[in-house]
Amino acid sequence: MKLTENDVTSEEVFHQRRRFLKLGAASIVANAALMNLLASEKLPTSNLTYAHDLNKNNLVPNSFEQITSYNNFYEFTTSKEGVKPLSYTLNPKPWSLEIDGLVENPFTIDVDDLIKKYTLEERIYRFRCVEGWSMVVPWIGFELGRLIRDAKPLMKAKYVRFETLYDDEMFPDQARGVFGAIEYPYVEGLRLDEAYNPLTLLSVGLYGKTLENQNGAPIRLVVPWKYGFKSIKSIVKITLTDKEPLNTWQKANPREYGFYANVNPEVDHPRWTQKNERLLGKLFKQKTLMFNGYEKEVAHMYANMDLRKFF
Ligand code: MTE
Repeated sequence: MKLTENDVTSEEVFHQRRRFLKLGAASIVANAALMNLLASEKLPTSNLTYAHDLNKNNLVPNSFEQITSYNNFYEFTTSKEGVKPLSYTLNPKPWSLEIDGLVENPFTIDVDDLIKKYTLEERIYRFRCVEGWSMVVPWIGFELGRLIRDAKPLMKAKYVRFETLYDDEMFPDQARGVFGAIEYPYVEGLRLDEAYNPLTLLSVGLYGKTLENQNGAPIRLVVPWKYGFKSIKSIVKITLTDKEPLNTWQKANPREYGFYANVNPEVDHPRWTQKNERLLGKLFKQKTLMFNGYEKEVAHMYANMDLRKFF
């Protein structure tokens, strides 16, 4: 990870911008200095309409540049800096998302229609990778529970399985077959109550703009109290099931990765301590919070579970 002067100042600029936006239209014209500030910030032009997050936790988002330049997306490469330059081969339009399995009302919907159907909101969340780094991301999306309810799950449905697109023309590592870094398509899963938790988001954008390819365009999952690998990208299929889905990383290495993957500073990964983390753009490590700081909202779902066993 490289740190530059820009990485540090961009946080301040973000806050100045927020304050600035509160000043209203008249002062926009009047204040040329702030206009320059806005221009230098290099934020994307917003192309989504959404309700702003009140940001009660006072989180400071990482810069757009950081969030879109340091990625895990194995379908392209295992190099975090390498994903962005390679990701132009993904074509996110048109894109259909299918919801099926143990539901009364299976359906397929184009992501553009999905964006019109479900009003969007901003959610500024902590994002913690199991490798020990973290960031804060201003996601745009809608609660996954809304989509699931519309499919009318049957009583037997207990889990939700997610699948990334399989297309070896769009994803170079899929074309490598058995020589690829992992098995494809990438699969993830949640328990149904986790999927219904109001924090669980289907994201279609960040910083006001539709998702960049490297972040999982056009639609990806965000589960802020779990390690980042649960947040599956470029989803084409959501299936309600009665069996716990075998997620990609658990299948690849069951000793190191489980199904739950709840952020937990008390349970170390065999290769990485989970006690602390490096927030992108910061020099010093910070303490990792239980459930990534969302304990109040999610701890009840795991009340009687041994979190060392169900890791
Ligand atoms: N989804 C797919 N399809 N392929 C991947 O390799 N990587 C996961 C997750 N979703 C991954 C994926 C991991 S390990 C992390 S940490 C996050 O995406 C990274 O998301 P970001 O690049 O937007 O920060």
